[in-house]
Amino acid sequence: MSKKRKLVVFTGAGVSAESGISTFRDSGGLWEKHDINEIATPEAFARNPELVLRFYNQRWADLKKVQPNAAHKIIAELENMFDVSVITQNVDDLHERAGSTKVLHLHGQLNKCRSAGYPDSVFDMPEAGLTTSDRCPEGHPLRPHIVWFGEMVPEMDRAVEWVSQADVLLVVGTSLAVYPAAGLVYAAPKHAEIHLVDPGDFDHLDPGINHIREKASTGVERFARSVGYDSKQR
Ligand code: OAD
Repeated sequence: MSKKRKLVVFTGAGVSAESGISTFRDSGGLWEKHDINEIATPEAFARNPELVLRFYNQRWADLKKVQPNAAHKIIAELENMFDVSVITQNVDDLHERAGSTKVLHLHGQLNKCRSAGYPDSVFDMPEAGLTTSDRCPEGHPLRPHIVWFGEMVPEMDRAVEWVSQADVLLVVGTSLAVYPAAGLVYAAPKHAEIHLVDPGDFDHLDPGINHIREKASTGVERFARSVGYDSKQR
């Protein structure tokens, strides 16, 4: 049996937009309604933990009301054809719920929390979210398991390793505005095909990247058909 080719799928907020989750930088996006410095930094959590927890608790509650969309599902089904690894900047669990079996979360996960004192002490997020009085067993406050601005991206090295082995890199729904994550596109080997599914405009896109200018559901299906995927399988 021939070995399956390696497909690395790198996703951002746009892959979950059709599920009803807001993106960050589109008009009406989360960073238009909230100040990053008040919500998404360790300093903000130290200064005003109530505000930060209210924001992430609401996103955790919202996540439980939405479902994976066609793009998440096709990405999962591509495991029938490829050795698929998903690297997502998203903190939702929609890739896993759609059936993807190998998912790396670069920016953390809403369904987990961790000790503010011991970053490796990670726990399931309580159903109702966190309160400021929640503590880890060692007595440190619990915080969302989210990579905030100004923090290291601990999974970055693993992500670079995965991309560097890709035969095909499929990028979906990201403005490629946030580093180091956005730099992953440049970690692909020379022989790899690179496709970007995103309805937005990109000023300085490498000419070697095939830009499928569509929303995630139709754009991912277009990509999938181009590699032999049959939508009747669904
Ligand atoms: P952005 O909000 O920066 O970009 C969303 C992208 O999705 C844009 O390029 C849109 O054109 C595209 N988009 C919108 N609707 C779409 C649809 N239906 N189908 C496909 N694409 C669509 O989100 P990210 O690039 O994911 O980090 O942002 C990266 C990081 O910035 C996030 O992980 C988050 C944020 O600050 C942290 O919170 C650490």
